[in-house]
Amino acid sequence: MNLILLGPPGAGKGTQAKLLQAKFGVIQLSTGDMLRAEVAAKTELGNKVQAVMDAGNLVPDDLIVALIAQRIEKPDCRNGFVLDGFPRTIPQAQALDTMLTTKGLKINHVIEIRVDDQAMVERITGRYTCARCGAGYHNTFNQPKVADVCDRCGSTEFTRRSDDNEETVRARLKAYHAQTTPIAAFYQQKGVLRGIDGMAAIGEVERQLEAVVDGQRAC
Ligand code: AP5
Repeated sequence: MNLILLGPPGAGKGTQAKLLQAKFGVIQLSTGDMLRAEVAAKTELGNKVQAVMDAGNLVPDDLIVALIAQRIEKPDCRNGFVLDGFPRTIPQAQALDTMLTTKGLKINHVIEIRVDDQAMVERITGRYTCARCGAGYHNTFNQPKVADVCDRCGSTEFTRRSDDNEETVRARLKAYHAQTTPIAAFYQQKGVLRGIDGMAAIGEVERQLEAVVDGQRAC
């Protein structure tokens, strides 16, 4: 099973992709995480994209498509994957189509997590991550069970993304509506688009997603 999670910054793509990975064994492929790893490792690609990401703009299509093409070849993708943050433009969606056709694969569902833009600034500026295992949290909506201790690995070190400030979030939302929104119509035409309510609590969004994956929900 291969899935795409579509939605603006803060919609919950990363949160839900991790839950899908744990439940269904589909591997989370987050282009944002891959790019941040390149930046942290100070690779040639990382140096090229850092300023673009910090400004909240999209990285050029050719760089992202090359990154995903390499990643999809890895053996851990054989049981299926959930794309989180890719594709983000029509050329990326077309390149993905070509890539999958060549490999005899297809996308089963494109799930659009529908949210209210105004709420996304609060979600993103309150987000933080365990520095050791990458588990995601939020100041208000998703706190660890014991304050300042990661539920998953017990670490007490947390990090915040450099692009998670209000100004950059607004630029990212603008980029989403200008460049990524048209993708929904692209997949609607192919009959694989499903919409869910991303304003519900995390557990409820998870239940809606599972219903789509289980094929119990049409659109
Ligand atoms: P990327 O890392 O993909 O960031 P994004 O799309 O801006 O999405 P986010 O990770 O911010 O949000 P999310 O939907 O995953 O939300 P989350 O689950 O964390 O991209 C970063 C940058 O990389 C881009 O700006 C671009 O420069 C570049 N890039 C990446 N891919 C690219 C591509 N394909 N092409 C070109 N450039 C690319 O949730 C947010 C917070 O809310 C969390 O704290 C969470 O706990 C909380 N939360 C989640 N769900 C709920 C809920 N239902 N209720 C309440 N709180 C919730």
